[in-house]
Amino acid sequence: MNEWYEKIKEAQSVEVLEEIRISVFGKKGVLAAEFAKMKTASNEDKAQIAKDLNKHKQALTNEFTAKKIALQTQELKDAMLAEAIDVSLFSTESQAGALHPVMETMDRIVEYFSSMNFAVKTGTMVEDDFNNFEALNLPKYHPARDMQDTFYFKDELLLRTHTSPVQIRTMMSTKPPIRMIAPGAVFRRDYDLTHTPMFHQVEGLLVDEEGKVSFANLKYILEDFLKFMFGDVNVRFRPSFFPFTEPSAEVDISCVFCKGDGCRVCSQTGWLEVLGCGIVDQNVFEAVEYKNVSGYAFGLGVERFAMLIHQIGDLRSLFEGDIKLLEQFQ
Ligand code: PHE
Repeated sequence: MNEWYEKIKEAQSVEVLEEIRISVFGKKGVLAAEFAKMKTASNEDKAQIAKDLNKHKQALTNEFTAKKIALQTQELKDAMLAEAIDVSLFSTESQAGALHPVMETMDRIVEYFSSMNFAVKTGTMVEDDFNNFEALNLPKYHPARDMQDTFYFKDELLLRTHTSPVQIRTMMSTKPPIRMIAPGAVFRRDYDLTHTPMFHQVEGLLVDEEGKVSFANLKYILEDFLKFMFGDVNVRFRPSFFPFTEPSAEVDISCVFCKGDGCRVCSQTGWLEVLGCGIVDQNVFEAVEYKNVSGYAFGLGVERFAMLIHQIGDLRSLFEGDIKLLEQFQ
């Protein structure tokens, strides 16, 4: 009998233990065989044999149960260890990050104007009525305010609808001459294929002595800039209206998709509108108390540039964080 205690103790797996269980407790096992011997034993011995065997049976059962729990626990531990993932290991599939196409396009725009000696200025996204509208020749109830559907807070505060207030702030705090661009996020109540409530602009402003700044200067730099951004495109200026510039123009480039032949993107016109610009209205200079100066200003939407450069159809896809779209810009 005693050898079985040893065997149970030494069993290395649940399977081996199961074999031992059958050899000890099974119908043809050692215990059954020992009990069978009782039949031939004398009556006096029977009681003693039964007592001894039952003692063994109980003791072996205890050994067996304890060993089984120990083995199962160990096997579970081993299995978990084998399947464990070391999250601190470096992945072999890691990929380098990349700039978002909007930021990359913004950087390129900034790169151009920096090379032309324009300083980069930033302001605040929460603005007041004076900087965003009033000083830009957009008095209260002026119908042109409708051109830019605005998010308002209480107390005359609002989310800036363009980065023009940065130019007002710059003029209020520095003397001319000024040569600056204002890149940044702006906000309008708009949402469709080509509009999102938040988008990015780069606006530019150049101010110098009266008579020194002409529309020809503006035309030259914008043409040069658009060729830098889009390559060999044609550029045209169309008369337009902005409250803060007079005269004003909208600037088109020949369609980058059809090269000017006419397609769905350019509505068969062969042209794509990309910029607003003009000669700064004297009312703006009056608001910031600049005297005897002249200047030009321009503004553009960075997302529109990014969409045209990368041929992205839906503006909203730029803000969905879809990794499949972003991966293409690595
Ligand atoms: N501020 C104008 C806008 O957001 C853009 C612009 C700037 C137009 C300067 C002309 C001159 O629409």
